[in-house]
Amino acid sequence: RSDGTTDYYELVQRAAEADILPGLRTPIWGYDGKFPGPTVRARSGRRTVVRVRNTLGAPTVTHLHGGHTPPESDGFPTDLVAPGAQRDYVFPLEQRAATLWYHDHRMDYTGPQVWRGLAGFFLVGDEEEAALPLPSGERDVPLMICDRAFHTDGTMPYPVRDDGPGAREAFMGGLLGDVILVNGAPWPDLAVDRARYRLRLLNGSNARTYELALPPGGKMVVIASDGGLLTAPHPVELVRLAPGERADVVVDFAAYRVGEHVELRNLLGEEGPQSRVMRFTVAREARDDSAIPQTLSRIERLDPATASVTRDFSFTSGSLHGHTGWMINDKPFDVRRVDARPKLGQVEIWRLTSDVSHPVHLHLAPFQVLSAGGEPPEGPLGWKDTVELRETQTVEIITRFTGYRGRYVMHCHNLEHEDMAMMSTFEVV
Ligand code: C2O
Ligand code: CU
Ligand code: CU
Repeated sequence: RSDGTTDYYELVQRAAEADILPGLRTPIWGYDGKFPGPTVRARSGRRTVVRVRNTLGAPTVTHLHGGHTPPESDGFPTDLVAPGAQRDYVFPLEQRAATLWYHDHRMDYTGPQVWRGLAGFFLVGDEEEAALPLPSGERDVPLMICDRAFHTDGTMPYPVRDDGPGAREAFMGGLLGDVILVNGAPWPDLAVDRARYRLRLLNGSNARTYELALPPGGKMVVIASDGGLLTAPHPVELVRLAPGERADVVVDFAAYRVGEHVELRNLLGEEGPQSRVMRFTVAREARDDSAIPQTLSRIERLDPATASVTRDFSFTSGSLHGHTGWMINDKPFDVRRVDARPKLGQVEIWRLTSDVSHPVHLHLAPFQVLSAGGEPPEGPLGWKDTVELRETQTVEIITRFTGYRGRYVMHCHNLEHEDMAMMSTFEVV
């Protein structure tokens, strides 16, 4: 539904059964009973209201990941929608075109609730992007990649975290599955034209990191990251995505013959089933008017000299009340505590350090990476909202807090780490 100023959507969270594995029914929780949920296509600057109705037996929270959203609609982890209740999330979308996604964000239960299926794409388009000759329409394909583990009866159980001594520690690293799903299907096959495609890759996994690659010699051109188009295209041989990260790539299937199968593989999956992601079958010749322009967009490079504050955050394991968990600056998440008060409009540098790998995500404020492990990032400039801290690495990011005052969170996007309290509140003042 739509009126002069606003687009309206209603998503009903419900329990359903999905056909994921051949011959088996898998109970899921989905927006509109689907996993992934429906893809919302929204426009920059166009107010979009999503009414979420919760018909599940548990409270939920919905967050638009990558959204530049007022605090009351951002899905703070304790802003619960009770079973039987509903809530209108209001997204002004004063932001550029980008591949966003929505997912559950309930405090302490994000891992299990996303695992059951509460996630979907939310694509924002704008005029700058629409004016480019990039592949579009049927050749613009969102691909949500996530791993799951199944029982032989088709269920996707989530281990109970407090299931006796040791159960919590058993998945300190985060929950992994051995079956890779793309848009909810195991190792799917997509028939493509002999033409360029834009693939919007999203790592929607709880904890698995991927290095995605085509067969040797196969080229992907990265055109966008979390926060939309890069300044220029970036040809690569592999795309590394930690949980929560996105990369839009253009693949030209004209490099292959009709009838050829082109595998997208995960190089971090070794030789196991986790190395298979999906495949494309080049089905037919087709006309292709698309192109990848040498200039994609203009992006203001934030200048470190304009930063008013530098803040340090360490992401490490820690121990509290005899429980091990994950902490930021040695403190577990506490909704009553505010750890940083950036001023609206100000530029800040945040220095993030890690023990093991942690994909760190900031709500509200897209950022630019200044350095990772002491090196400037490779490739053209772009905006990010999630950045992977590799083992014992320091990553410096720079951001300007704009738009809204209020409370937001920063957290590890390994969802088990997030649920084990690796989250911190900042308040824009
Ligand atoms: Cu994708 Cu705070 O989450
Ligand atoms: Cu987010
Ligand atoms: Cu982590």
